[in-house]
Amino acid sequence: MELTFLMVKPDGVQRGLIGDIVKRFEQKGFQLVGAKLVQISRKQAELHYQEHLGKDFFERLVTFITSGPVFAMVWQGDGVIALSRAMIGKTSALEAAPGTIRGDYAVHTNLNLIHGSDSPESAQREIANFFSAQELISYNKAI
Ligand code: CMP
Repeated sequence: MELTFLMVKPDGVQRGLIGDIVKRFEQKGFQLVGAKLVQISRKQAELHYQEHLGKDFFERLVTFITSGPVFAMVWQGDGVIALSRAMIGKTSALEAAPGTIRGDYAVHTNLNLIHGSDSPESAQREIANFFSAQELISYNKAI
């Protein structure tokens, strides 16, 4: 089963949007297989955003993501990587369509509430950066 890493960023946690965001993925039919509220370290943040190293917004990104607790999650389901990205909406707050999480709740590209993996390779790396294998649940196939 396909897995993805989703993370409610500090702005989403502080605005009390964890419940609304989790509800959307539950209603879609995906299964939550791991979740925790964490204050991430600078090292963990740099690893998470390694593809953006060297970009002009990198420092701002790392400072922001370590500024308060994040809600880290692993979800599973068919097509969960692409579908969850569609549900999250475009990175730019101005382009995120109404109906998407960013389109409904965000007005700023830096305060865009939630991160979602963009490929199976990213998902694997991001999950390993936040969760041990023991922290991920295996559901009974009959359910
Ligand atoms: P995220 O999905 O977490 O991945 C990288 C983040 O960098 C992105 O969401 C934005 O919050 C942030 N960011 C800030 N400026 C830019 C930019 N110009 N292009 C892409 N991402 C940006």
